[in-house]
Amino acid sequence: MPTLTTLLTDRFAAALTAAFGDDYADRDPVIRSSQFADFQANVALPLAKELGSKPRDIAARIVEHLDLEGVAQPPEISGPGFINLTFTPEFLARTLETEDATAVEEPADPQRIVIDYSAPNVAKEMHVGHLRTTVVGDALARTHEYIGNTVIRQNHIGDWGTPFGMLIEQLLDVGIDSETAQTISEDPNAFYQAARVKFDADEDFATRSRSRVVALQGGDAQTLELWETLVGYSRTYFNRIYSLLDVTLTDADLAGESTYNDDLEAVCDELEAKGLARMSDGALCVFPSGFTGRDGQPLPLIVRKSDGGYGYATTDLAAVRRRAQVLGVDRVLYVVGSPQALHFEMVFATARAAGWIPEDMVLEHVKIGNVLGSDGKILRTRSGKPLRLAELLAEAVTRAKAALEESNAEFTPEEADEVARIVGIGAVKYADLSVAHDTSYTFDLDRMLAPIGNTAPYLQYAGARIRSILRKAAAEDIAFADAPIVLGEPAERELALTILGFPDVLAEVAAGSQPHRMAGYLFDLAQAFTTFYEQCPVLVAETPELRASRLRLSATVLTVLEAGLSVLGIRVPERM
Ligand code: ARG
Repeated sequence: MPTLTTLLTDRFAAALTAAFGDDYADRDPVIRSSQFADFQANVALPLAKELGSKPRDIAARIVEHLDLEGVAQPPEISGPGFINLTFTPEFLARTLETEDATAVEEPADPQRIVIDYSAPNVAKEMHVGHLRTTVVGDALARTHEYIGNTVIRQNHIGDWGTPFGMLIEQLLDVGIDSETAQTISEDPNAFYQAARVKFDADEDFATRSRSRVVALQGGDAQTLELWETLVGYSRTYFNRIYSLLDVTLTDADLAGESTYNDDLEAVCDELEAKGLARMSDGALCVFPSGFTGRDGQPLPLIVRKSDGGYGYATTDLAAVRRRAQVLGVDRVLYVVGSPQALHFEMVFATARAAGWIPEDMVLEHVKIGNVLGSDGKILRTRSGKPLRLAELLAEAVTRAKAALEESNAEFTPEEADEVARIVGIGAVKYADLSVAHDTSYTFDLDRMLAPIGNTAPYLQYAGARIRSILRKAAAEDIAFADAPIVLGEPAERELALTILGFPDVLAEVAAGSQPHRMAGYLFDLAQAFTTFYEQCPVLVAETPELRASRLRLSATVLTVLEAGLSVLGIRVPERM
């Protein structure tokens, strides 16, 4: 289905050409939503300035050539020269009858996109910050796939670096057995902390750890095997969280820091050869232009430390270089916490200066804001440690289950568990996705699970209610699948218009990396449905035709609601 704004844009292209000539065919008609009509086109204002006429006169000339026959009412010019556009109910009804509301047109030129997201660290607990990078990244991956782009998921896990010497020695000390496997895959922090404490207290352990790092970096086979074991335990843990969260990442998407080991030396050599990197205080550094510290001095991006080791920045340079040169993608989304903004700006500037990135390739840091506790500070446990994600999620499911006890649906114990999981996890994910990704929000399970308001349970409940209406219709053998749609009531027209806005929202989410726009849209849709349902009797409509039309409209809302929630990675239970 073409989006409503694409349809209008095409009509404007024809009108602009007819009125002002071929040069104006590609002019953006500046279509925006409007308080006074379905949409308004604002193109007359910039055009008037350019052509030296009055905006209202320009608007009138456009309208004279604008063919909206069978689509919209005759356009009206308002204010300084806005063109108000209002679809006819017949057009909206026919479109709903003939088009699949959840389908989008195949892109003429699909993009190849790397989405770098989740990225927890081996032998460490995933914290709520990783919840956001995981959930937002997954929603973007699902959205791009939905609209026909090619997505390459890359989970840039922290699986390399100096702590691994200490972690491998700890693994040898406690022994490679099922108990250790279980500890690391259930409570990785305990293992990490124990290693840390020993490293600080036991000189012999510290020495062993340091030589272990050297062996690891030197590619010693036995050490690599131990490292592999350790990473494997963490993988089990990550996968358990991903499956609990209904996240699409798999082992095939792992592309951790270690992936780039063999490129690091070449990256440094190349930067040096191109005159971009130089020695400073014993370390090899790049000073990308335009970055200065508070003291006004150029800021360094350290690519090789004075001890010869490589760090986080070198790995990211190697990763972006491969993404451009081997994967050949059009766009890379880095779904990572806002505090890393400077890191990415410097990495991107360096990679561009090195000539690795084609001119039109987009590198984008999708900045992720903080998750706060009720005290307004970054969410932590009472003891001050970062909160365990697995515990938070379990708590959400428990509370969702308690709330279900008040529902009058009679669930078997298995159903109750399943629905509690869909609602509890959905609530946490939705709360995260419904705020702009770069702002912070307060983690508050009560608010997330509230049945009313902009929450997952509210949307899921709307879906479950439609399912129940459709079940009743089926029980009464009422056919409506091909029924003509009638949009006589304002609430019906509003609902139809909202439904048809879905493909535009998908395009916006993908273009601007903003899943919260989908959340906002779905909330509007659910509200439009609630208003419709209050004002327009469905099963007891005045006539069989009206009843069939309203059932068909309701069924369409359900498919759009489910499609929209599915790109956010949230399901709708059969009953609630
Ligand atoms: N592991 C890092 C962290 O936990 C995030 C890595 C993000 N991705 C990247 N390409 N640097 O903060």
